[in-house]
Amino acid sequence: MTVEEIKTTVKDFQKAAANAVKAGFDGVEIHSSNGYLFHQFFNGLSNKRTDAYGGSIENKTRFFFEVLDAMKEVIPQEKIGARFNPSLDGLFGMTMNEDTIPTFEYLIKKLNNYNLAYVHLSEPFSDVSEIPYAVTEIAKHFRPLYNGTLMINTAFDQEKGNKIIEEGYADLVAYGKPYISNPDLVERFENNFDLAEWDEDTFYTTGAKGYIDYPKAAKETV
Ligand SMILES: Cc1cc2nc3c(=O)[nH]c(=O)nc-3n(C[C@H](O)[C@H](O)[C@H](O)COP(=O)(O)O)c2cc1C
Repeated sequence: MTVEEIKTTVKDFQKAAANAVKAGFDGVEIHSSNGYLFHQFFNGLSNKRTDAYGGSIENKTRFFFEVLDAMKEVIPQEKIGARFNPSLDGLFGMTMNEDTIPTFEYLIKKLNNYNLAYVHLSEPFSDVSEIPYAVTEIAKHFRPLYNGTLMINTAFDQEKGNKIIEEGYADLVAYGKPYISNPDLVERFENNFDLAEWDEDTFYTTGAKGYIDYPKAAKETV
């Protein structure tokens, strides 16, 4: 990206945030994880820039903060969340190096200067126990660094979700796959109903199967 393109993209995010809130959404999440654009800037192996957006940790995170600052000019910062996947390795083009975790530590600590709706982190998407630069327990590592509302995701069930909140390592738990196969997940958790299994064969496919044919009401399956 040219610097001109970065500036245009900052304006695009600003406009999109304003439009989303104007359209009635409660807030917007800056998706800065999973190998997407901001993540590519944070990562030392994908970010080869030699200008103000590459090199030092401050530079690699500059684009993200320019977007955040532009967004909070047009919508309340309490309506903005940000999502990160610090130990992503070997997926979506991301490879960790010695700068990776310090970059996320810097980012997340700096977000204490804001009053965001939440910071949303993912536990590692794969086994990173052999990766020397990786943190294996994301919520435990980053909770002490962030004073605001912390959301955690990846491979939680009801029990694990309740446990991590009770232990104080997160304030919120986000569920992905369990929600796909249980549109009434909250009701099932509340009532200790059985959960429907998700069908991986229908992930990332077209057509109705796997999208609208999971049992809707918990009472239908218990
Ligand atoms: C079918 C499917 C599609 C997904 N698509 C995306 C995506 O487009 N972008 C993204 O960042 N994460 C995507 N994810 C990952 C989820 O955001 C979430 O991190 C992941 O499902 C882990 O949470 P879970 O264990 O509760 O499912 C997807 C997950 C699934 C199952």
